[in-house]
Parts: sequence; C-alpha cells; structure tokens
Amino acid sequence: MEVIRAVAWSNDGAGVRILDQRELPEREVYRDLRTVDDVDEAIRTLAVRGAPAIGVAAAMGVTLAGGDGERSDDPTAKFARAVDRLGCARPTAVNLTWAMQRMSRVLVRRFSNANGLRQALVEEATRILDEDRAMCRRIGELGSTLIPERARVLTHCNTGALATAGIGTALAAVYVAAECGKHPHVYAGETRPLLQGSRLTAWELRRGGIDVTVLVDGAAASLMRDREIDLCIVGADRIAANGDVANKIGTYPLAIAAAHHGIPFYVAAPTTTFDPATRTGAEILIEQRGAGEVREGFGRVTAPADAEIYNPAFDVTPASLITAIVSDRDVHRAPYNFVGI
Ligand code: MRU
Repeated sequence: MEVIRAVAWSNDGAGVRILDQRELPEREVYRDLRTVDDVDEAIRTLAVRGAPAIGVAAAMGVTLAGGDGERSDDPTAKFARAVDRLGCARPTAVNLTWAMQRMSRVLVRRFSNANGLRQALVEEATRILDEDRAMCRRIGELGSTLIPERARVLTHCNTGALATAGIGTALAAVYVAAECGKHPHVYAGETRPLLQGSRLTAWELRRGGIDVTVLVDGAAASLMRDREIDLCIVGADRIAANGDVANKIGTYPLAIAAAHHGIPFYVAAPTTTFDPATRTGAEILIEQRGAGEVREGFGRVTAPADAEIYNPAFDVTPASLITAIVSDRDVHRAPYNFVGI
C-alpha cells in the first residue's frame, strides 16, 4: 500500500512537511512549514489535523523556534514560548498537551549550548513521530480482530494516515483487515461542516484500494436500520478516565443509533489520547469553531447571514454506548477505568 505522510520532516531537515488537507481531495499539495507561526496557523486552520497528527506536528514545530530571526539571550525561553503557543492551538485533543509536555521535559535538561538543546528537541520530536507510527500499527493489528470478513464498517471524520504519522487509528484497523484479505467495505459519513469524511477518508481509502461509500451524516441511522452495517469504528480526541470519548461532532448520535440497532460501536486511539486526569467527559473542553464554516461552506452562502450558528467541533460519547476501546496496548471493555493507563 502506498504510504501517505501527513506530517514528516522536510527534505532539508529544516522544516515540517505537511500534506495540506485543506486542498484535498482536489489537489495533493505538500507544504514546508519553516516557523512556529506557520505550524500554529496550519494546526488552527486544519491544514494538519487529527489528534495524533497535531501532537506530532506541534512537537516538530517547537524545534523551529528562533528560525525566523527571533533573538533571545536565553535559548530555552524561545522554545518554551513555542511550547506555550503551539500547546493551545486547539483545545480538545489531549495529544497536543501530551506532546508539549514531552518537549517541555527536554527544556529542563542542561545543555552546554543552544545547538545541543535544539538537537535534543529534534531527537525528542522524532521519537514522538516514530512512536506514533508504531502505535498506529499496533492499533491496526488489535482493531482488525474486531472486523469480520466482508464487514460493512461505518466510520466518521478521518482517522487514517491523514490524521496520524502512521496508518491511522480506526482506519488502521480497516487497513490491517484488508491486508489480511477480509475485504472490508467502509461507509464514510461526510462529516459536516468540513467534510473530513468525504474529502479525506474517502480519498485515502481509495488510494489504498479499499471500497468506500460516502453518505450524508443524516443517512447513518437509516443505513443501520436497513441492516447494512456490521460495526461502527471511530477515533478519539480525548478519552476520560471513565471511558467517555470526545470525538468529531456527530459521533455521539452515531453511537446512540448504533445502540438502538444493536450494532457494536468501537473507538480506536493511541494511549496518547487517554487523559486519566480528566475524570469524565463533562470536564472536556469542546472547541467551538467559527460561524463561517457553516454560513459559507466552501465558498457558497449556506445559511442566512443573520441566523445564529452553533458549531462545536467535537461531542462527547458516554462510555455506556461504547462496546470496546482499542488502544495500542489492548482491547478495553467496560467497565472502563483509565486512571492508571
Ligand atoms: O477537527 P479534526 O479534523 O482535527 O477532528 C479529528 C477527529 O475528530 C478525529 O476523529 C480524531 O482526531 C481521531 S484521529 C486519529
């Protein structure tokens, strides 16, 4: 299978190369980000997106601090500012916070000069990237055991190579099932308002030679009722200690519909998405995005200018609706307790 790299070092090693997801599926455009500002903007505007990928991109982005001519007597201070800045580029995915904590731990070590510090940060960011790739593979292997032959799999948003440094989380399970000759067929909810399902999931699955049907989000419940779906599998942006899951807006109604129709509902995520410090989903901060995404979807007027807009990027699915959570360590089943994970 062709490898898609959503985030990597640029060829000259002096930047972060991303596949600009705002352009897909029309154009496959790679951009080299050279400054912390570039990385911050790419994360905020979803040029790079998906919980694991933004953690990896931010970690790599920290190493670019000072490259735009910023002067500082204290080399540690400029990297610390980058950690603070990138750590709040988006609020819901805990992978971002986790990655910034990893980079911060390098900053408290002693170095004889600024180059030594930068080199140690580059090494840490590279470890974060490599670890994410390995976790994706493991999630795929564990998750694929839940996918029967010729399964019809409903998913939401994008949880594949485009959302991670590796082969994905929920989609990793599909990719490994396909490798094992199980011929899964994916039903991808389009995922309003930014269409990560239709623009990104369908694009990368077709690249991987996997059959995919795109549906409007509102069609999911009737598809389940008509017994066209064997299982649902989605990703996560933050998993609370009790197993409540924050993921792309529209995940919660899918889980309700799946429970109503007796269809298993799985979540797949690396351990970097688990947040034992958050006791329940009620404590998770949900990102609210701009009205323009709904009012002028992709350049057309799609709602009256004077209508109020409600545009949360994520929702919380209660643990009670989740059949199992696949991490890179295990297939976890209720009652969930991730305090010690
Ligand atoms: O707003 P996005 O596109 O970054 O949202 C992404 C999701 O909600 C994904 O489902 C989640 O990050 C898991 S990605 C492996």
